[in-house]
Amino acid sequence: MTDRYAVIGNPVAHSKSPGIHAHFAHATGEDIEYGRLLAPLDGFRETVQRFHAEGGRGLNVTLPFKEEAYRLATAHSARARAAEAVNTLRFDADAIFGDNTDGAGLVRDIRINLGIAVAGRRVLLLGAGGAARGVIVPLLAEQPRDLTIANRTLERARILEQQFGPGVRASSYEALSGSRFDIVINATSASLTGALPPLPERVYAEGSLAYDMLYGSAITPFLQRARVEGAAHIADGLGMLVEQAAESFFIWRGVRPETGAVLAALRTA
Ligand code: ATR
Repeated sequence: MTDRYAVIGNPVAHSKSPGIHAHFAHATGEDIEYGRLLAPLDGFRETVQRFHAEGGRGLNVTLPFKEEAYRLATAHSARARAAEAVNTLRFDADAIFGDNTDGAGLVRDIRINLGIAVAGRRVLLLGAGGAARGVIVPLLAEQPRDLTIANRTLERARILEQQFGPGVRASSYEALSGSRFDIVINATSASLTGALPPLPERVYAEGSLAYDMLYGSAITPFLQRARVEGAAHIADGLGMLVEQAAESFFIWRGVRPETGAVLAALRTA
């Protein structure tokens, strides 16, 4: 019998995950079906429970439900606990297992697809919301030289600094002036509204990477600006999307799909 999975969110119609997982299933020979599940904003739990009761085996969780999914899970991976957010649910016999593959996806995209090491580098993370929180532990595991978190509301960055400890430094945007970074990651939601995080000029070190965790049909204002500012490499979050999907697939099926072909196909499309 075909095992059923889906991505749950609101909105969810735009999600590329069904196409990505269909490709993985075909490439690995795993017998799965993967759909889209639109949950009402006040009906996440009920929608998950119905899917589970109807035989669903697991879910990817997207905006705005990742924190709610964390609370719904009855067992968590260490990285989900650190993120306090879950993007992958697996229905086990005795538990609902919650994991977070976003950070692993980001790190794999940077290290393997882009061929850029995080180890020993000065990393700047913009934003202190759920998206930023989800990638801190996997970034630290790569042993960057340091990790600076800049946020408009400084207090939120300070909370992350306290929680994630040595190696993490909170900063306002203004206080970044005069500093240089090798990797600058935009984890704010600014690109969603076409806005630009208020980065001072000349934060990009020679050979640096600007990475926007969001992706879309057009280049984001953050990446446009980074190009003007002299960032040597720019990347959107499409590679992260494919890599986090591969990691979720592995959690569900125990098989790690190859990502190169699907990423190339999405880029061409
Ligand atoms: P998410 O779960 O996507 O991270 P969130 O928790 O609402 O969503 O966090 C959004 C992040 O984007 C925050 O860090 C927010 O900054 P504040 O904490 O100061 O609100 C940041 N953000 C949103 N729009 C921004 C903009 N135009 N410039 C800079 N930062 C912005």
